[in-house]
Parts: sequence; C-alpha cells; structure tokens
Amino acid sequence: MFKKTIKNVDVAGKKCLVRCDFNVPMSGGEITDDTRIVAALPTIKYLIEHGAKVILCSHLGRPKGEFNLKYSLKPVAARLSTLLNTNVVFATDVIGEDATNKVGALKDGQVLLLENLRFHKEEEANDQEFCRSLSKFCDIYVNDAFGTAHRAHASTAGIVTYGFAPVAVAGFLIAKELESLDKVLDNPRRPLVAILGGAKVSDKIGVINNLLDKADTILIGGGMAYTFLRAKGIQIGKSLCEEDKLPLAKELIAKADERRVKLLLPIDAVVTQSFPDPIDADVPSKQVMINEIDNDSMALDIGDETVKLFKKEIESAGTVVWNGPMGVFENPNFAKGTREIAWALAGSNCISVVGGGDSAAAVQQMEVGDKITHISTGGGASLEYLEGKVLPGIACLNNN
Ligand code: 3PG
Repeated sequence: MFKKTIKNVDVAGKKCLVRCDFNVPMSGGEITDDTRIVAALPTIKYLIEHGAKVILCSHLGRPKGEFNLKYSLKPVAARLSTLLNTNVVFATDVIGEDATNKVGALKDGQVLLLENLRFHKEEEANDQEFCRSLSKFCDIYVNDAFGTAHRAHASTAGIVTYGFAPVAVAGFLIAKELESLDKVLDNPRRPLVAILGGAKVSDKIGVINNLLDKADTILIGGGMAYTFLRAKGIQIGKSLCEEDKLPLAKELIAKADERRVKLLLPIDAVVTQSFPDPIDADVPSKQVMINEIDNDSMALDIGDETVKLFKKEIESAGTVVWNGPMGVFENPNFAKGTREIAWALAGSNCISVVGGGDSAAAVQQMEVGDKITHISTGGGASLEYLEGKVLPGIACLNNN
C-alpha cells in the first residue's frame, strides 16, 4: 500500500475524524441496503479497540447545502449502533454546538456520528473556513470513503490539502479497494478480461482507453455496444446509438486491433419495439442475430449466443474486471444477459473484480456477491480509478 493506514499511527486517546461513505439507499426513512455501512466496520472496530475517540462523518444524497430531514444520517447512527453492538452517539449538526459538545464529552473508544456534511454548502465548495472548523474534531484524519474519493470536497480532501490535518491516513476499506483495483491494473493474473457495459460509450471512453493498454480481451455489452456495432456498419434499428461517438468507436476498434486486444461485441440480441415504461413493464421481446435487427426494433439485452461467447472468455480468464450491466437488467425480460455473466463470474476460478454502481447492484440482485473476489463500494470512484485518474481523496493522504 503506497499510502499510510490507521495501522501506521498511534490512535490511542486521539480524536480520529473518519470520513465514511454512508451514502446508502433509503426508502421512507429506512435503509434498504447497508453494504457501505458494513464495509466501514473494520476501520471503526479497529479504532474502538485501540482506544481512539471516533468521530464519523459522511454525506447522504444531494441535499444542496440545506438541512433536509430526508437526508439525515440519524438512521445510519441507529444501524451502526446495532452492527457495532455499542451506542453510537449522534450529533444533530456538523460543526455547531451539539457536535462541539458531544465531541468534547467523547471518551476513548466511544463513537460519534456527525449530521450530513452536505447540509453545509461549504462541504462541496471545499471552503477553507469549513475545513478549519471541521479540523477542530481531528487529531488524526482518516479517509475510508472510497465511494467519494473522486470528489475534492472539504471532508474528502480540503481538510488535508489546506494543511489542517497533517496526519492523514487511509482506513481499511480504502486500503482494500486500492489493493483489489491495483491488482487488476498493475499486476493481473492473465489473461485479463474486461467486461464493459452500461448505456453510453461517452461514460466509458476513459476506461476503455486505459484498459486497451492493459487487458488481453474486452467484452462490450449493454447499450453502448450498439454504437460500436453501428461503427462497424451493422444496422441496429432503434437501438441506442451516440452518433457523435461513431468516429471515436471506430478509433477504439482500430486501437484494439493495433494492440492485439481481442474486442468482442454482441453477436445476437434480445429486441423489443419500444422502451418499457415503467422500466419493469412486461413488453413483447424476441432474440435475433445481430445483423437481423429490423428498423422498428431496439436491442435491450445480449442474446444466448453472445452469452456463450462471453462465458468462454470468462472461463479461461485469470482476472476479470466488470463494469456496467449487459442490458436493461431492471426488467426481467432483459435481465438474462447480465444474470448469466454474473453467474459465469461467480462460477469461475478467476480473480473477479466488479466496479460499483449498476454492476455491483446486479451482482447483489443475482445473490452471487459472496462468490466475487471484490465488489467495489464506489460507483464513480471505481470508474475514475479504472480510467487511471488520480482521486483527490487518496492523493491527499500521507505516503507510506
Ligand atoms: C456515490 O454514491 O457515488 C458517492 O457517495 C458519491 O456521491 P455523489 O455522486 O453525490 O458525490
């Protein structure tokens, strides 16, 4: 690990301000998926056991700089109390009187959670005075919010880069994420197969470009495959096509050729006539070969032949990295491709790394999460890391 972690510093009796990513899905005030909370537990437990005063902070949603009960972190404090089997004190503000008093009263080994950082517009604006105020709760700054590490906000970077937190280390979640993603990028067991999906080529240009230098095989599914197919002169009917990205798609196909990277596109598809509305509506669908998509049809999933083709690559892979679903997996009629890929990955002996966001949700939905080597807790963050970008929340931490 090229950054210091909490193991490299003496935390006993110190105020440790821990930036977590507790941006969890909620419905009617209830947490519907606590994966990110559970992922933060090893760091929190270590700090408790080593006698730190643990001050947790996070954002939840995008409340735009104002208090909004819908985005309160209070339910997270309750869930943490249950998971840790200890009372997690909750402060009803971030840098105000309640937080200041509760930090002051905190004993070694106790845990406090501050209210949502984004109730202050200064958080996203990376405001220097806000960083200064926050740093009053901080002898040691710990970043464990991998999911937010691509944001240069006050609590993820500014507090360190403005010089208010000279001791700035990674928590165990960030360490684990970096270790897993670096294994893919720097030292993969070969062959390295990248599976890329999702709707738009424009969202994945950076990843494709970076992986063209590293992967042996790239499998492209999801909506973005149809821009590539169109670039190869195939009729795709009403399927998604980013006209302005056609030259780029051609360029990427040529680059893959040049670098002898096997770039595979769907050879068949599941099509329908109009996009389901609502998204899970039961619409008629059928499988066709890729050169048989008629003008009135749109492809919303990969077909059985493509699944076979992609599975063969997965079975012989040393490492697989997957980012983006193969189709509109929210709809049962178009979920089979994504499901089959998730199962193939779960059943293979390869090192498997799933980038966060939709592909992580798909793997959990298919209930094969425990068979995947690493599922990233970061959506945008893991995507940017796979693009080879420097993440501000990691760059600012002390080097090892
Ligand atoms: C995420 O869910 O990707 C992170 O928590 C970051 O959230 P944001 O996109 O609102 O900054």
